[in-house]
Amino acid sequence: MIIAIDGPAASGKSVTAKKVADKLDFLHLNTGLMYRAVTLHFINSGVNINNETDILSGLKKMSILFDSMDSNKILLNGQDVSKIIRNKLIDSKVSEVSAIRSVREKLVVQQREIAKNNDIVIEGRDIGSYVFPNADFKFFLTADINVRAKRRYEQKKIKDVSLNNVLFDLKQRDKYDKNRKYSPLVISDDAIVIDTSDLNIEEQVNKIVKIINKER
Ligand code: DC
Repeated sequence: MIIAIDGPAASGKSVTAKKVADKLDFLHLNTGLMYRAVTLHFINSGVNINNETDILSGLKKMSILFDSMDSNKILLNGQDVSKIIRNKLIDSKVSEVSAIRSVREKLVVQQREIAKNNDIVIEGRDIGSYVFPNADFKFFLTADINVRAKRRYEQKKIKDVSLNNVLFDLKQRDKYDKNRKYSPLVISDDAIVIDTSDLNIEEQVNKIVKIINKER
């Protein structure tokens, strides 16, 4: 069974998806980590993201794997990069890298392969709309932009970064993710939309699990 959870940055997707997967005893796949890992790989190997030949050769030299015991642990070319890919530099570049068609094509093949013959909760931006249009359940998490900014601010607490900076960055990322040419962030017609602005994690997890258990 495939459960797709999509939504914008800081909508509570990641923690919700992981908890839903744990409750159902399903695998969990955070596709955002994959786009972040590619971004780091391109920075480290000096790939010029405006040059397709450079991009393709960079992609060829890249391996992305998840730790089989911990779905939030991602290995880039054999190295655990789980922490570094959440930093500010990656935050500022990942939307641009994830808008590249050949990057998306490569990662989508891998995402479909990981999900093959598995019960899995997959989270991202285009899971219900593109990667798994026939997913058994599609959820789309939203939340008020100010609530999202506050959550992200409290989560990161980075020195010298104000709540206003975080709000600005989120708005930029939303704009980029929604307006890119390939697989933009959209709400599928058949997705169940959950506004998490006034929900805590426990409440949103329970809401999703209840819907799944009622219908499966
Ligand atoms: O969920 P996140 O913030 O870690 O995702 C990082 C970036 O990756 C986000 O700006 C958009 C991109 N992304 C994507 O384009 N498609 C996905 N399925 C998941 C993430």
